[in-house]
Amino acid sequence: MTTTTTDKSAVPVLEASGVTMRFGGLVAVHNVDLTVRAGEIVGLIGPNGAGKTTFFNCLTGLYVPTEGKVTYQGNVLPPKPHLVTTAGVARTFQNIRLFANMTVLENVLVGRHTRTKEGLWSALLRGPGFKKAEAASHERAMELLEFIGLAEKADHVARNLPYGEQRKLEIARALASDPGLLLLDEPTAGMNPQETRAAEELIFAIRDQGIAILVIEHDMRFIFNLCDRVACLVQGEKLVEGTPEVVQGDERVVAAYLGTPFEGAPGAEEAAEVEAAEAASSGAGSGSGSLKKSGSGSAKESGTTGTEGEAQ
Ligand SMILES: Nc1ncnc2c1ncn2[C@@H]1O[C@H](COP(=O)(O)OP(=O)(O)OP(=O)(O)O)[C@@H](O)[C@H]1O
Ligand SMILES: [Mg+2]
Repeated sequence: MTTTTTDKSAVPVLEASGVTMRFGGLVAVHNVDLTVRAGEIVGLIGPNGAGKTTFFNCLTGLYVPTEGKVTYQGNVLPPKPHLVTTAGVARTFQNIRLFANMTVLENVLVGRHTRTKEGLWSALLRGPGFKKAEAASHERAMELLEFIGLAEKADHVARNLPYGEQRKLEIARALASDPGLLLLDEPTAGMNPQETRAAEELIFAIRDQGIAILVIEHDMRFIFNLCDRVACLVQGEKLVEGTPEVVQGDERVVAAYLGTPFEGAPGAEEAAEVEAAEAASSGAGSGSGSLKKSGSGSAKESGTTGTEGEAQ
């Protein structure tokens, strides 16, 4: 007997299917499918330039994908960042985007505005409705600061916080919109090992509050500790997806990070052609079957640590 129940919990929190993003001739993301279910922490890894942030931008309405569909709890997401936030998807950015001259508390309050009904006139006239809503927002923002461990710095100006705390503040601001799904783009970049451990605990605690999580990171220990499932992007394509054990043990993932070509790798054919042409022109004999690292393109410039890229 086929199961045709319409159990709501069976609807994925996030479903991206066939997402492709082209910039002129460059295909930054190619035909990527990814599902995040309720209660899950899913990791997205891949060398620098693999398309991870671009994929996030396609999910959050910053980019309109060239092809593909993105749904949140079964509904197609509108291609506008503020509407995506209102729908229930919040994110942090690879390059921290705080209001540097505002206080810690004000930054969280800004994140709260999608959930307050008070309109512009109400805010300008500061009537009783506005004051009540403002008090409630303030209370919720302080609760969130308590939760992430920044309550005692509520009045500090954001730009004066150490880097690791700025990353935490970004998470608090994202949580202020009461999301059902949180997307984190390199949340531990620039953190020391203790801060990274604490971030891990914080993300588990967020998941335990019923928020599904999709996280990009270069720190493999962090990712494999944290995630229920991990997908690896290489040159815009999803190479592998599975449990941390499966992904860790996949030699193609290791090869992609080291820039070693492997059978079926995106760009491997082109790399092999270039290598063959170089070998022929150097007149260095047959040289066939060489396993020399050719840099299949994907990880030529990559290290294994997270660095700030130019894109978000
Ligand atoms: N707005 C844009 N216009 C043109 N090309 C872009 C744009 N955004 C990203 N790209 C290109 O798309 C590719 C994927 O970049 P992306 O930032 O998504 O990679 P990433 O996997 O997040 O890398 P990193 O780990 O370094 O953050 C890169 O070649 C990048 O230069
Ligand atoms: Mg990135």
